[in-house]
Amino acid sequence: MSWSMSNMARFKRIAANAARGAAYRVAKSAPASPLMVYVEVTRQCNLRCRHCGIWKTWQGKQATGEVEASVLVGVLGGLARKGLAAVDLFGGEPLMRPDLEKIVSGLKEAGLHVTVTTNGTLLDVARAGSLLEAGVDQVLVSVDGPWQEVHDELRGRKGTLDKAVAGARAFSAAAGGAARLGFNTLVCRQNFHLLAETAALASSAGASQMRLLPYHQCYPFNQLGQDDALLPGPGELGRMKVALAHFAHKAAKLGLSTNGRTYIDGIVPWFAGKPRSAPCMAGITVCDINAFGDVYPCYTRGMPAGNIVQRPFDEIWRGDTMEELRRKTIGCRGCWQSCYIEPGLRLSPAAAARDWRALLRDVREYLG
Ligand SMILES: C[S@@+](CC[C@H](N)C(=O)[O-])C[C@H]1O[C@@H](n2cnc3c(N)ncnc32)[C@H](O)[C@@H]1O
Ligand code: SF4
Ligand code: SF4
Repeated sequence: MSWSMSNMARFKRIAANAARGAAYRVAKSAPASPLMVYVEVTRQCNLRCRHCGIWKTWQGKQATGEVEASVLVGVLGGLARKGLAAVDLFGGEPLMRPDLEKIVSGLKEAGLHVTVTTNGTLLDVARAGSLLEAGVDQVLVSVDGPWQEVHDELRGRKGTLDKAVAGARAFSAAAGGAARLGFNTLVCRQNFHLLAETAALASSAGASQMRLLPYHQCYPFNQLGQDDALLPGPGELGRMKVALAHFAHKAAKLGLSTNGRTYIDGIVPWFAGKPRSAPCMAGITVCDINAFGDVYPCYTRGMPAGNIVQRPFDEIWRGDTMEELRRKTIGCRGCWQSCYIEPGLRLSPAAAARDWRALLRDVREYLG
């Protein structure tokens, strides 16, 4: 009885918050809290990926200035009472933080859905066990192709595919269905023809989902590692469209959930530089907190709205800077990143009707 009552109260809080987020474009009044927060728990990273400049911003210095676990848990736990549903802990490489489990268990105690997004190379049986003990709901392992020649070359270190897949298998075996495993897969010139094959690998490793992340050069730190050779040329986009359709078919056949249809259909137009019409919900239903506590609607907008170590989150969320950034977000067509764009698609009636399976999956996953 008390379990279903507390779940019902949580569901109502989150649904009310989602409705306010969906109405933002008309009401111009932000919800009490984001629905999802992406937290960069560290800048440290053990890989040297071609597509990501984060590792260049941390050059072996001490991890000074990272927000303490207790601060993150206090801020995000407070937001859970206002309608925050889920938190994604990423980095840098989040498994390089020795107190990651402390953060996970604190967020779970606050009733949040918790995902850890990792390159998987440090995920062994012991770490899988401690994350599960802390209560993690989902681990997303980045696998950018089924062959070493592709994955290791993109990730800048030999042996990373084997380690990532071994880590993914260790996690799914230890979880035994109690938590979900997913693959995050970059989509770029070097690997788009291998997406269906990567889906087969995901399924064989025990994953229940595979999310596509089309290569972008949007984040300020991407400018440190921009690699135009990863962009498909105009003459390759037709083949990419076929490969994406083949991937979606294969994923459905394997029972793997993936991005919504509208999102996948938007990948080739995005690479082709065509204007898109989907709304962006950065700063409204989703936001980023970086390793040092700065809050951004999305990382792409280089300007933070405030810092959670210095000011209460609520003051930042309701402040003039965040509101000014939100108004720019609403009209922004600057990227096609799944983490910011897909929540907008879920809350747009036309896209949600077309993608009702993805909507149901998200409701089940984050509110179930
Ligand atoms: C920033 S990483 C952090 C977590 C962890 N280090 C990892 O690699 O999974 C999170 C995800 O963002 C993806 N990513 C990084 N830079 C990207 C870019 N320029 N375009 C698309 N995806 C990118 C990574 O491949 C990874 O799947
Ligand atoms: S994608 Fe992940 S593993 Fe690769 S450099 Fe960026 S943070 Fe590190
Ligand atoms: S579309 Fe949204 S997530 Fe992308 S750059 Fe613009 S505001 Fe940021």
